[in-house]
Amino acid sequence: MAQNAHLRILFVATEAVPFVKVGGVADVIGSLPRELAALGHDVRIFLPRYGGIDPHVWGLKSVATLSFPFDGVQQTIAVWQSTLPGSTVMVYFLDHPEAFGQSPQVYLGLDQWREQWRFLLFCRGLLNVLPLLDFAPDVFHLHDWQAAPCAAFLRTTHRHLLRQGHARIIYTIHNLQYQGRWDVSMLDVAGLSRQQVFTPEGLEFANDVNWMKGGVAYADMVTTVSQRYAQEIQTLDFGWGLDEVLTRRHSRLVGIPNGIDWDEWNPARDAALTATYTPDEVATGKAQNRTAIRQHFDLPGEPDVPLAVVVSRLADQKGFDLLAEMADTLGTLPWQLIVLGTGQPQYETMFRELAAKTSNVRVRIGFDVGLSHQLYAAADLFLMPSAFEPGGLGQLIALRYGAVPIVHATGGLADTITDVSDDPERGNGFSFAEY
Ligand code: GLC
Repeated sequence: MAQNAHLRILFVATEAVPFVKVGGVADVIGSLPRELAALGHDVRIFLPRYGGIDPHVWGLKSVATLSFPFDGVQQTIAVWQSTLPGSTVMVYFLDHPEAFGQSPQVYLGLDQWREQWRFLLFCRGLLNVLPLLDFAPDVFHLHDWQAAPCAAFLRTTHRHLLRQGHARIIYTIHNLQYQGRWDVSMLDVAGLSRQQVFTPEGLEFANDVNWMKGGVAYADMVTTVSQRYAQEIQTLDFGWGLDEVLTRRHSRLVGIPNGIDWDEWNPARDAALTATYTPDEVATGKAQNRTAIRQHFDLPGEPDVPLAVVVSRLADQKGFDLLAEMADTLGTLPWQLIVLGTGQPQYETMFRELAAKTSNVRVRIGFDVGLSHQLYAAADLFLMPSAFEPGGLGQLIALRYGAVPIVHATGGLADTITDVSDDPERGNGFSFAEY
């Protein structure tokens, strides 16, 4: 394919900023397509229309409806259309009240049967409706297990959409931990033939259907979000069982580092900050923001005490078990710590209790984009001790805002943060190797 060929690229994902966000995937889906479009490609995104995405707020217009049999019943979907703000990227929302529209909830957690049912409906529905949208992708770019069923459909029931091999499938792993597994009966829901796909080369894994594995098996190329993670997932420690499957496909597996949107994250022009600052003004600019955030959180304004922040999903992955182990010490260290995030109740409780009984730890349980900008700007240190980290955006934003990252040297954190004592010239943070 010529270097400057303009491609039609379809992103299939479950979250995208600014419409819906749970984790870092949303930032990538909300920014990468815009960059690709700026290079001249025709990029479009398919998302579910969750109950939290209000058609009026986003000015969605209806562009198609379709009925098709799924799980033994005739299902009707509608497609709504919008654009990614500040770009020409078209965004399609698949609307099905029962599957998505009745609740703002993005992921269902423990109800995995229902979870698979709805994302199978999403994948099958969007492939069915695509011809009505007059868009024949050259590249199907599928993200995480929820979009992986598209790969299985594209190799079987929806082969025609690949136009005799003219179109290609890229599958991106943002997080290998969540794979989407169920017993073989799920294939009947999907409308896939067991004989065709329930094989060691296809969707079968340890006697179950595994959609993540299907994405890896059926894609032309598999990418993940850092070079280190691309290596790590081929090992027992980080493979979540799929290390051998990934090793078998290693010639088709590449790590492409995550990036951040430099306009959205720009301390020189960030409307959320108390004081904006350029790299030359970093010391004074950060001091002003730090003073403001200390007042906001009722922390004493001690100039010699560093302010550390955590902005994160509060999940095991992010290394909070390490903080739990030293919870008693955190309150006595000569620093201040502010935590912003939501997630597993055990960590929410831990930080709430810590904040209640110490004078230097504060927590805000919640999701607050504006506050996250202020925290990056105020912070001296940014704490991200993840047990594993496919890519990681927090440490990149911290660097952009002049907050020094403290990280566990794993995945994307290992690729982007160099410890100052290992390399005093180019060091840009603190990192530890042993978890
Ligand atoms: C997931 C990963 C994170 C990555 C993000 C975007 O949230 O856990 O490491 O940066 O996806 O790719």
